[in-house]
Amino acid sequence: MILSRPLLPSALLALAHLNFTASACTSVESISCSPMNDAPTLDGDNSDWSSVETFETSLTGALTAAPYPNDNLKVQCVYDDNRIYFLFEVPGVYRFDTTDNHKCAAISTMFKMGEEAMLYNMGNCPMAATSCPSNPEDCVDYKVDIGGHWELATTEMGVAYGINNGTGDDAVANKDDEYAVSPYCRFDDDDQNAANEWAGAWAYVNETGVGSYIFEMSRLLSTASTESDAQLVPGQAIDFGFAFWDPYEDETNGWSDIGHYVTGCAADWISLQLVDKNGEVAPAPSPSGAETTAAPSQIAGETTAPTPSSLAFNLGPQYYLSFALAALVAMM
Ligand SMILES: *[C@@H]1O[C@H](CO)[C@@H](O)[C@H](O)[C@H]1NC(C)=O
Ligand SMILES: *[C@@H]1O[C@H](CO)[C@@H](O)[C@H](O)[C@H]1NC(C)=O
Repeated sequence: MILSRPLLPSALLALAHLNFTASACTSVESISCSPMNDAPTLDGDNSDWSSVETFETSLTGALTAAPYPNDNLKVQCVYDDNRIYFLFEVPGVYRFDTTDNHKCAAISTMFKMGEEAMLYNMGNCPMAATSCPSNPEDCVDYKVDIGGHWELATTEMGVAYGINNGTGDDAVANKDDEYAVSPYCRFDDDDQNAANEWAGAWAYVNETGVGSYIFEMSRLLSTASTESDAQLVPGQAIDFGFAFWDPYEDETNGWSDIGHYVTGCAADWISLQLVDKNGEVAPAPSPSGAETTAAPSQIAGETTAPTPSSLAFNLGPQYYLSFALAALVAMM
């Protein structure tokens, strides 16, 4: 069922708006990812990242917009000839259970693929509000590439887990490579060129008195599965997001599917900029090829993305609808 806006009580809309603006969320607009010759080793030890710029950003409830109860996420990113490497540090209290993923931390990354794809609601295809559309073409413009979606129960700290051929499903370490157009239409990479091109290692550290999970991840820049993977190109930017499932979301049950925290104040993509060796980045070409001429100010080195600083002013009707729906879910 798709509710149309006029059917929603205005009080609910007001409530949803209040929920959203009440949280003091700030998001970085972009994360710079620089070329590096000596790639970091995936071992959960972050000492080989000390020379790499760190970006800090808020985590907020994906549906509730509630602030993550611990500190900000820290992200670092570099790339070499073949792979992109991320270091994600999420402050939080340690919990681990070899028999229950929900009582271990979990993460995921997300790249925008379709032109209309939103960070909110994993692409937020209106035709996939409760299930996949009968005609998959209806949601192609809303596709997101989900990768490094890692649930830890079968893994050990400090161990590097590699890539898989043939499917996005990682039978060993459960760090899956997926794609989606909404939370109700999400799959492991499954086309004829599908693979899981993510590798990773994790650790938990508490040297400074503030405990953090460390996820050291890499992915091939280009993959064979263009159906289900965003292609990462040095010198270009791509819209990006990150999610964290907190094993202490609930003391008894651990995390819930919908209880995760995301970047971008649960509304905005972050521009992941794979700057070239001159530190420059060009806007990504339009997937449709429709807009081939960029304004001069948007060409290399001067990426002036519109400022989403005052989110309340940027919200289209779809956000009010989304948050109203989230409020409805929360009330039930
Ligand atoms: C995947 O396939 C490629 C190409 O056939 C091969 O080079 C690589 O070793 C394979 N990787 C794994 C993990 O099996
Ligand atoms: C980290 O260690 C300190 C003591 O060294 C302790 O007080 C604190 O609770 C720990 N933090 C976490 C999140 O485990």
